[in-house]
Amino acid sequence: MSAGSTHPAIAAPGTPLFACGGKRGNNVLDSPGTVTPSIQTFYRFNSMKKIALSVICCLAALFTFAQNKGGLAIIPEPVSIITKDGQFTLPKHILIQAGPSAEEKLVSTFLRGKLATASGLQVTVRNSFSVPATIKLVLNTKPDTTIGKEGYQLWAGKKGITIAANQANGLFYGVQTLLQLLPKEIESKTTVPGVDWTVPLVTIKDYPRFSWRGLMLDVSRHFFTKEEVEQYIDQMARYKFNLLHMHLTDDEGWRIEIKSLPRLTTVGAWNVKKVGEFGRFSPTTPDEPRTYGGFYTQNDIKELVQYAKDRFMDIMPEIDVPGHSLAAIVSYPELSCTPGADKYVVRSGERLQVDNTLNPSSEKTYVFLDKVIGEISKLFPFPYMHLGGDECRKDYWQKSDSVTALMKRENLTTYEQVQSYFEKRLEKIVESKGKKFMGWDEILEGGLGPNAAVMSWRSMQGGITAAKMGHDVVMSPVNYAYLDYMQSDRVMEPHVYATLRLSTTYQFNPVPDSVNAKLVLGGQANLWTEQVFNFRQVEYMTWPRGMAISESVWSPIEKKNWNNFYPKVEKQFARLDEAEIKYAPSMYDPDFDAKVAPDGKMIISLTTEIPGLDIYYSFDNSYPDKFYPKYSEPLIVPEDAVQLKVITYQDGHPIGRMVSMPIAEMKQRADKSKPGK
Ligand code: ACM
Repeated sequence: MSAGSTHPAIAAPGTPLFACGGKRGNNVLDSPGTVTPSIQTFYRFNSMKKIALSVICCLAALFTFAQNKGGLAIIPEPVSIITKDGQFTLPKHILIQAGPSAEEKLVSTFLRGKLATASGLQVTVRNSFSVPATIKLVLNTKPDTTIGKEGYQLWAGKKGITIAANQANGLFYGVQTLLQLLPKEIESKTTVPGVDWTVPLVTIKDYPRFSWRGLMLDVSRHFFTKEEVEQYIDQMARYKFNLLHMHLTDDEGWRIEIKSLPRLTTVGAWNVKKVGEFGRFSPTTPDEPRTYGGFYTQNDIKELVQYAKDRFMDIMPEIDVPGHSLAAIVSYPELSCTPGADKYVVRSGERLQVDNTLNPSSEKTYVFLDKVIGEISKLFPFPYMHLGGDECRKDYWQKSDSVTALMKRENLTTYEQVQSYFEKRLEKIVESKGKKFMGWDEILEGGLGPNAAVMSWRSMQGGITAAKMGHDVVMSPVNYAYLDYMQSDRVMEPHVYATLRLSTTYQFNPVPDSVNAKLVLGGQANLWTEQVFNFRQVEYMTWPRGMAISESVWSPIEKKNWNNFYPKVEKQFARLDEAEIKYAPSMYDPDFDAKVAPDGKMIISLTTEIPGLDIYYSFDNSYPDKFYPKYSEPLIVPEDAVQLKVITYQDGHPIGRMVSMPIAEMKQRADKSKPGK
């Protein structure tokens, strides 16, 4: 038996997450004959040291890569894996044994479904442990104190497989790991003949780092059906997430039936269908049909909550107030402090030029919120309710006599304090319905309510501040955890204002050193959907960055290592292909960096976020392949070139997408990066 991790190259604590080949690629000259000696000197000076470093670094990374290719590829990385030589082959008749409770049956039925569908073998579940079994799912009679509430142990031996846990959710996570130990075809929706259904001999002990492991899906900017949300829940379950946060309301649509306020969904759930670049759509006209959108009935929500529960997942609702509230205001204009709100329409992605804030000085607002929160609190068993609080503009409040009167009466001197007044009243309403109040970190600004929990998005700082004040915190900082951001160069992705590479997402650590770890419940990533028009794109934006988040919130920090992670992602891609789930191949797209040399020539450097890729390129507008020049050092752009086309290869095969980079775009970026710009 070989003790230790399956991935021998796991870095010791303190090892940098990144080897070479990332954004700090070598920076050397193109063909020396084409440049002047002064430029040669300019580049060569730095290049020799960098080449040497890069070669050593890349060899180390490639060594890791080669080792990982044959290894296991479990995401999130378990706490400990011990491997033995050999494997267990599933018999023609698979017998699963599990206890008889409803929750244990959920797990055994789920496993039977996966095995029977993909393998076509006969799979039987028996709710007793009386005979030898292929797979045993065992609830510990005496709790195993080393694995906590959600952990599990998995043993795959020559005679069979056992998963043991303290609770059924641990069994479910153990089953997710088992599926990742089986051949990728286990993810197929139809029977795949000719597969050796084997599991490597392993002993795994595993439990999560955090109890809050979430993804947020914005169903307001674009509506996703109940069935699509269920698919999302299934995808999240693969990577041991346990919380779906649904952003249910915003300027573009109110998505949950409130029986006492029917206009929220007869009016507030509908806008005009537009495609193109959200935020820049032409203003709508009265004759355009407002038939785009949708909402979940309360029955839909009950079914969704149950669907998630059956996968050991909770759903947290978010009602985003007092900003982002245009859909509510269009439905009930008396919620606004601005005259003329009765003429507003639900936003369809045109520039927002109206007041989208609730009136904090009107009792009608609090009566409205009491009704909404009252109905919603009965639908979602999860203890927290998220009430938004982000990006609340204050300019319309400044113009309102009624808000001015409120400030005088309550002795409020800033508009942040006005929002704080609103949030504290809201917290009381939420608590009166038996729920805990959570908001985005803006709720800190004018003073936080006594029990409020904070979801920190603008950075980790809001979370750090709130944790130091003794409040519960969930970290979802924009710089690591925003899944709406582009995943590679903006010429390759639907345009959003920022980029978040997989390798950066992977660096997410929800507990900064300066914070009491007990106050950080965990972390999550957020998928805002302004630019996400369909569910395939939801998948594309989520995976593989969601895998990086899952490892950040589940795995021990010392087990996180980029050079182990990205080869596992590549293996997961093959699984997602089987499951027909879309993902972004953006980690194979190079980064482009343009600089102007002292002689005025433009120099383009290409780097890749993963090592071991070859980049082939052309400047002549034709599509490069491996018979074209291979990138080895920064390129001097020929005088009249209009496009640089590049494609990446791995092991002699094309792997990246064909990227066409306009030289004009490179020039603009080079000009912007000049000193003084
Ligand atoms: C947010 O991204 N406005 C929470």
